[in-house]
Amino acid sequence: MDKTSTYQILSKQVESLIEGVNNPTGQLANAAAIIHETMGFWWTGFYLVKDDTLQLGPFQGPVACYDIKMGRGVCGTAWQENRTIVVPDVEQFPGHIACSSMSRSEIVVPMRDTTGTVIGVLDIDSKELATFDDIDAHWLELIARTIERHALHTTINNPT
Ligand code: SME
Repeated sequence: MDKTSTYQILSKQVESLIEGVNNPTGQLANAAAIIHETMGFWWTGFYLVKDDTLQLGPFQGPVACYDIKMGRGVCGTAWQENRTIVVPDVEQFPGHIACSSMSRSEIVVPMRDTTGTVIGVLDIDSKELATFDDIDAHWLELIARTIERHALHTTINNPT
């Protein structure tokens, strides 16, 4: 199956897995699990904004760094610039944070609240160079919108 067809199915699976659930940690964990399993990535997970730091959230893969400051690494840059960043070769990205020496390429997709403020990122690493392209960016952004809507935006999940 080609990548677009796989992502088409995956995006529907993510939605059906997390809709109607009131458990953000569990929803993010299951979203990471199904993306990771389906696509065969090396590391798939979430960092969530807490004050001036991105804190490690639910993930699949090897152990990872706990805290990333704004503007640091690929994740902190995607947060600061509020945009998806595709890195074909992590060694060429100034300030890349190497949680795993096996990671060769990476994509980071911001997740936002209803005002557009970044509240976390979806971070994915691959053991191969240049794994991620415009197709991955398109579908992972769409999946990030689904995750925001079902796990992060609702008042039921985030009572004040
Ligand atoms: N490489 C990331 C850090 C997180 S790990 O990939 C899980 C970065 O440079 O922000």
